[in-house]
Amino acid sequence: MNYWDSYWKSKPASSCLEGLGAAPRLEECWRESAKIVTKEGNGQTSPKRFLDVACGSGAASTKISKECESVKIKFTGIDRANVDFSLENPIHSVSFYNGENFNAFFKRSESFDAIISNFGIEYLELEEIRTILETKTRPGSLFIANCHDHNSLVSFTSKEEIKALDSFLNDRLLKKLEVALSQGFSVSLAKDYLLRLKQLNDQSEGRLAGAGVTEWVIQQLSKSQQRGEKTCELDMVHSVFEDYKSRLYSQINASLKTPKILNLLQGVSEECLKEELVRDSQNKIVSKFFIFRML
Ligand SMILES: C[S@@+](CC[C@H](N)C(=O)[O-])C[C@H]1O[C@@H](n2cnc3c(N)ncnc32)[C@H](O)[C@@H]1O
Repeated sequence: MNYWDSYWKSKPASSCLEGLGAAPRLEECWRESAKIVTKEGNGQTSPKRFLDVACGSGAASTKISKECESVKIKFTGIDRANVDFSLENPIHSVSFYNGENFNAFFKRSESFDAIISNFGIEYLELEEIRTILETKTRPGSLFIANCHDHNSLVSFTSKEEIKALDSFLNDRLLKKLEVALSQGFSVSLAKDYLLRLKQLNDQSEGRLAGAGVTEWVIQQLSKSQQRGEKTCELDMVHSVFEDYKSRLYSQINASLKTPKILNLLQGVSEECLKEELVRDSQNKIVSKFFIFRML
């Protein structure tokens, strides 16, 4: 889980919807969900209570809150990483169970009018998801989620990136050069290192540069050169990208959980209002979006 902490530290205001700009259909799905919420919230007497699962920096809550201007919502965000967010419209409020406090959420007895999640709930343990469905909803609650799909572009790209990262992390020549650089920095060793990195990057169709490896390596090498240091350590680059690889694996594993969540939902819901494979402008699968009403 450290990898999510470092992810959110480096991108505090980011959302996992970023990079999916080519999927306006996903935006539409969230807008359509907000319309259902608004319709059902008309004539409310007290604020609606929504649970944003694996909320990150609040993509799902933000989407819903922006579209629901007239319906007061109390959002609760839960996430195992240390991350939180705020909402622009002051009629809505948000509270968190995050980081070390995450497990405390499960000890509370409270239910929600809607469970929402954007690329999030599928990261939880199946037992945790079952608990949420069985104890945190009430009859008529909505379940609105956008989840990773195993056949999506995201899963495909993650697998390709893992292959590329492995070619970098396990390359024998680079390892030898790293040992040499850690014993004595020289421009010619640095050049050899960059040359080999370029070869690996070309072999992976630019994926190493795309993932940021090249930038990190250049930064470390030039720091040593500019500071006139006698040695250069590249361990840090290794740990950053081992971490990144773990995050990619967790994304792939999460996508495998989506069909299991749908199975669980079928047992505890009254009706399925939507189950859609969201596609981008080139018809590639981006995710699976579904809305259920609970029994
Ligand atoms: C792909 S991000 C999505 C975040 C946010 N919903 C968004 O759309 O921007 C996945 C989130 O799941 C959280 N996460 C990963 N594994 C988790 C777990 N086992 N329990 C709770 N949260 C988890 C991460 O910290 C991260 O914030």
